[in-house]
Amino acid sequence: MSCEPNTVTAEVRGVDEERTEAEEEHVQLDSLGDWRRTDYCGRLNARDAGRDMVLAGWVSNRRDLGSLLFIMMRDRTGEIQLVFDRELDPDLWERARRWRNEFVVAVRGRVRERSPETVNPDSPTGAVEVEPEEVRLLNTSLNPPFYIQDDLDVEEKLRLKHRYLDLRRPRMQRNLMLRSEVSQSIRRFLTDREFCEVETPYLTRSTPEGARDYVVPSRTSPGDFFALPQSPQLFKQLLMLSGLDRYYQLVRCFRDEDLRADRQPEFTQLDLEMSFVGIEEVLALVEELMVELFCSTWGERVETPFARLTYREALDRYGSDKPDLRYGLEITDLSSAVSSSDFRIFSGTVEEGGVVRGLVIPGGSDTSRGQLDSWEEAAKDLGAAGLIWMAWDGNPLDGIDVVRSPIGKFLSDGDARAVARAADAREGDLLLAVAGERDEVCGILGRLRVSLARELDMIPDDDSLEFLWVTEPPLFETDDDGHLTSVHHPFTAPLPGDEDLVDSDPLAVRSSGFDVVLNGVELASGSMRIHRQGLQQKVFSALGLDEDSQRDKFGFFLDALEYGLPPHGGIAFGLDRLVMLIAGESSIRDVIAFPKTTAARDLMTDAPSPVDEEHLRELYLKIRRDDS
Ligand code: AMO
Repeated sequence: MSCEPNTVTAEVRGVDEERTEAEEEHVQLDSLGDWRRTDYCGRLNARDAGRDMVLAGWVSNRRDLGSLLFIMMRDRTGEIQLVFDRELDPDLWERARRWRNEFVVAVRGRVRERSPETVNPDSPTGAVEVEPEEVRLLNTSLNPPFYIQDDLDVEEKLRLKHRYLDLRRPRMQRNLMLRSEVSQSIRRFLTDREFCEVETPYLTRSTPEGARDYVVPSRTSPGDFFALPQSPQLFKQLLMLSGLDRYYQLVRCFRDEDLRADRQPEFTQLDLEMSFVGIEEVLALVEELMVELFCSTWGERVETPFARLTYREALDRYGSDKPDLRYGLEITDLSSAVSSSDFRIFSGTVEEGGVVRGLVIPGGSDTSRGQLDSWEEAAKDLGAAGLIWMAWDGNPLDGIDVVRSPIGKFLSDGDARAVARAADAREGDLLLAVAGERDEVCGILGRLRVSLARELDMIPDDDSLEFLWVTEPPLFETDDDGHLTSVHHPFTAPLPGDEDLVDSDPLAVRSSGFDVVLNGVELASGSMRIHRQGLQQKVFSALGLDEDSQRDKFGFFLDALEYGLPPHGGIAFGLDRLVMLIAGESSIRDVIAFPKTTAARDLMTDAPSPVDEEHLRELYLKIRRDDS
């Protein structure tokens, strides 16, 4: 067999004007040959001075100063400056001059300290540079459609279309490496505590988590479809029945739902389940896991125990089931303070069983009328009938004389004091109040709270981590058609003591569910599960599933429940959201190697895409072009 030549010729193609010269020629490519990389670029420092080494990577930048040529070379760890001096080695200088950005190169050379005036304090390797003795050009590259740099604002569509280049940027490399570290740290922690990693199927039946299923047609069972799992919920519960005792999995889940910055159609969960435990053991394990994970990846100790709020408290105090506790702006109840005021919108609302609640903006009394009008508009857009403001120019306990408000003339001295007391207002504060039905008012103020905190710069930009447990969410809610649906999923147990309400007053049933919220992001959801068949059937019935539909959808699970399912509970974290927060990113797309757009498309592979007629025939499928 003949030996492969160790040099090949490749045409250099490119678009920037700098490359015209190289474009017209053929560039001689080298092979790596017997060179083996000895070091990574980004790890070199003054202690390496004088060492010979082989480096390999991509050309990230060039500065041609005539007889001196500076080339920045990049690998996964960072960049190092290569210096080519025509005086010292004209051939080497000439070869390097023909390199262009993103060419793949290897160099053999020696590290040297830079002279004090040329040290670059902004670069981690800025104290040293490499003087190459020999170079190899391993491959050329087209000029990329965007610079491979972090500090440029590149349109996301372009980044996603050329994701392989976007991932070459240092920030994206860091995010992917961080993701890998997070996964390793989780695996270590759970393995140490005797959790067993089990893979559950991707081709399965529907696993209800509130979204639409992605379905896969079966060739061997004409007309039948698999559903991709929205979560491994049923499988992990069955593993508890099997006696696995402690299970976990870093698992891909699939949900066809409206997408946004923290939602992808396929995403990863850290999913876990434990047998013979109560709620406190699950919560304690999760807190311990967060301490260890943030310690190893974030470098700071997370404070435990986490704050806890019941779902009801979270809605009442923050208007959200995932409040951000990094700032105050708590909702206050003004209902009794205004119940006898002459402002009928307030007193009338309270008389009819509604509430008047508000937000106090500390030091906000000098807010301009224009600003107040825009907040009122925002509140109306959120569904409020109006937004009433009160500003205190003096000590609030002095009564109405120190209050400015469009409803001032309807308030007595006593009303003004009562409102100030209820809101705990101080001199210079501003109160924004909304009247109406309790949950609606809280929801409006909750969303207003978040936008005001952003607008008024109240969210600390330090590294504060405000973990929170939100517990006891309702078991059921009603959908737009008035049907009962599960708030979490149908396998969540009612809170002990609330079971009997499942039949008689289902909307009053509190569940054993719990969410982990971090800085206003829902990171994880879990619950204690129903482990007895009778209660499971009762919950299915409350959800409108008659016996036939229960058997049709969950027959296998109901059958299994006859064989000794232990008491158990568990939780699932959104791994993408977790990594997003640790990485300081604002979208999970930035911590997923190959994410989809918000229209659920992969712009790089152009998926989803049509399949040919033959394939459809094999699957017994026909595409209906009209929407009848
Ligand atoms: P849940 O549906 O709340 O619970 O999901 C758990 C966590 O998964 C993350 N998550 C998502 N992340 C990215 N894109 C999405 N589309 C998406 N949907 C959910 C969130 C969420 O908190 N089986 C239950 C868990 C259990 O009870 O153990 C479940 O899946 O961070």
